[in-house]
Amino acid sequence: MSHYINDLEYVLIDETEIAEVVARLAGEINSKFTDKLLVVGILKGAFVFMSDLIRKLTIPIQIDFMRVKSYGSGSKSSGKPEFKLDLESDLTSADVLIVEDIIDSGRTLKELTSYFKSRGAKSVTTCVLLDKPDRREVEYIPDFTGKSIPDVFVVGYGLDYSEKYRELPYIGVLKQSEYKI
Ligand code: IMP
Ligand code: MG
Repeated sequence: MSHYINDLEYVLIDETEIAEVVARLAGEINSKFTDKLLVVGILKGAFVFMSDLIRKLTIPIQIDFMRVKSYGSGSKSSGKPEFKLDLESDLTSADVLIVEDIIDSGRTLKELTSYFKSRGAKSVTTCVLLDKPDRREVEYIPDFTGKSIPDVFVVGYGLDYSEKYRELPYIGVLKQSEYKI
């Protein structure tokens, strides 16, 4: 992964801190729920986070995924999130936990929450690894937040820029010179 090192400004959250944050989030989720949860990961960004998180859950769960695209190949949200892949699970009366890598404008989670409710979910709760509160365009407060970060573009641990960097085991800030606004 040394081929990426010149693209990054600095490491924002290292592997040790990520593990601590994930363990804390799992603890919060474990103490809030007792009944079965339908854990829905938002592809592609959340897949690494979700795989670590579910292995720390001690309540019964099922998992499913949705694919939502909000960014084209750039670093700026394209506006309305597009659903590319729908759930296979029956949502009727399910307690849904949406797992997302990062909340930015808030549009993705807002749309998904109302979508799941319209499909009959009993409750919809959200867990995000990262939050950029300064970028919010629609009001949205996730139920569980790993870490709030400043308005910088981050990659790694599932997060990409133009489909690159997802495999980095830590979260780094991308150099401005590496992306187009
Ligand atoms: P929102 O709908 O604007 O809240 O967008 C959330 C989505 O934007 C996330 O699921 C990510 O895919 C993407 N995103 C936002 N900020 C970043 C970032 O810093 N790095 C990589 N992806 C990001
Ligand atoms: Mg995403």
